[in-house]
Amino acid sequence: MGSLNYGALNLLFFTFILINATALPYQNPKSNSTQINSNSVLVALLDSHYTELSELVEKALLLQTLEEAVSRHNITIFAPNNEALERQMDPEFKRFLLEPGNLKSLQNLLLFHIIPSRVGSKEWPSEDFESVAHHKTLCVDEADNHLPLTRGNSGEKVVGGLARVTRPDDVVRPDGLIHGIERLLVPRSVQEDFNRRRSLTSISAVLPEGAPVVDPRTHRLKKPATPAPAGAPPALPVYDAMAPGPSLAPAPAPGPGGPRHHFDGESQVKDFIQTLLHYGGYNELADILVNLTSLATEMGKLVSEGYVLTVLAPNDEAMAKLTTDQLSDPGAPEQIMYYHLIPEYQTEESMYNSVRRFGKVQYDTLRLPHKVVAEEADGSVKFGQGEGSAYLFDPDIYTDGRISVQGIDGVLFPMEETTEKLAPTTAPKVVVKQRRGKLLEVACSIIGAFGQDSQFTSCY
Ligand SMILES: *[C@@H]1O[C@H](CO)[C@@H](O)[C@H](O)[C@H]1NC(C)=O
Ligand SMILES: *[C@@H]1O[C@H](CO)[C@@H](O)[C@H](O)[C@H]1NC(C)=O
Ligand SMILES: *[C@@H]1O[C@H](CO)[C@@H](O)[C@H](O)[C@H]1NC(C)=O
Repeated sequence: MGSLNYGALNLLFFTFILINATALPYQNPKSNSTQINSNSVLVALLDSHYTELSELVEKALLLQTLEEAVSRHNITIFAPNNEALERQMDPEFKRFLLEPGNLKSLQNLLLFHIIPSRVGSKEWPSEDFESVAHHKTLCVDEADNHLPLTRGNSGEKVVGGLARVTRPDDVVRPDGLIHGIERLLVPRSVQEDFNRRRSLTSISAVLPEGAPVVDPRTHRLKKPATPAPAGAPPALPVYDAMAPGPSLAPAPAPGPGGPRHHFDGESQVKDFIQTLLHYGGYNELADILVNLTSLATEMGKLVSEGYVLTVLAPNDEAMAKLTTDQLSDPGAPEQIMYYHLIPEYQTEESMYNSVRRFGKVQYDTLRLPHKVVAEEADGSVKFGQGEGSAYLFDPDIYTDGRISVQGIDGVLFPMEETTEKLAPTTAPKVVVKQRRGKLLEVACSIIGAFGQDSQFTSCY
């Protein structure tokens, strides 16, 4: 595709934005309620294999506290694995923690595992036995509130003097990270409370035993894969890997056949388009992906490079409701589609879990800088706000660990546009009868106008 075309589209698009911007007073519809980012370390924790820890965090009513924490600063979580919390933990102690009257102890215990800053494995003290780094934790009540990071005899990373780090940098997110550790850390105050209550000598009844890594999710979540670690995850944010689209800042030129071609992204994209077609009710979208834009190619390229994507796929009924107005702006079809692509791998279950726990979650989209907001509604996930919202309608149409396709019953628009374009709802609902969808049709005319003809034969 010619850069000229993109240049022209760009210009038009920015003009469009400018007009929009001047026509609308700046509005921030958000009330106070914190909206957590879907790529937050907190969301990742709740969706991780540290299911026992996640459960405790929820039971301890700490989500709000932690949401506030990640909105202000990075956090580092030392996460005991399930084994440590299930079998190696003294049952008496666990019972103690879960008694409603001991909520404070449970909170302190958990907050003791969290440092209010970012400490990656590279920030660990060197392998010299003497060196110790002391960090304050979020457990502010603890008189002895510091967590030493050290090295063990053979250089392994150790937290709190006794817990080996079994999975350093297990989860890395923009606002924090998680290190897996082999056992629970018990702050002194909690230990004392427990001892006082139970008059037990100590809780060192935590059985020291090598923790085999069992799949902790077997009964709970049988997701095909958390973004599978086949090949390192890409270091660059997905936007850097994207070809420059109308709304996107020019990205660095994609290297021809980079070193990271582990996956055949294109066939995965083809595969999911096939699935969409067979599924039924998503023909317009499939049409668009196959025949119109270079979206499919773009997606294939991203997946080949190791990125993951979630497609919020509007069904045919939703697509048919698009008005000419909504499609008439240059680049609009692409813009609409980019807004439905989330650069994360999400399944129905992971999204539902997030909204159920946090109320509102915002997902980045490939349409920068717009995010799409999701919340729980009627036992499902609702995207967008007000009239422009859409429900998760056909969950997990396609999920292969890298591409996830979720059917929705509406076409989503960023906030500013919904208020502008849907409020004075004069445009008639157009029901599309013809084989080729409206979106495709309009887009074809745009492409025609720009003289782009090579790959879009179906436009003629
Ligand atoms: C909104 O934030 C302000 C200041 O942080 C606070 O005083 C107020 O209670 C909050 N309101 C709601 C509805 O959370
Ligand atoms: C978290 O850490 C990253 C990387 O160091 C930094 O870019 C980001 O601004 C930090 N976030 C907050 C909320 O401090
Ligand atoms: C794309 O266009 C070709 C012909 O141009 C057509 O045969 C094919 O069915 C179209 N694909 C879809 C998914 O509609």
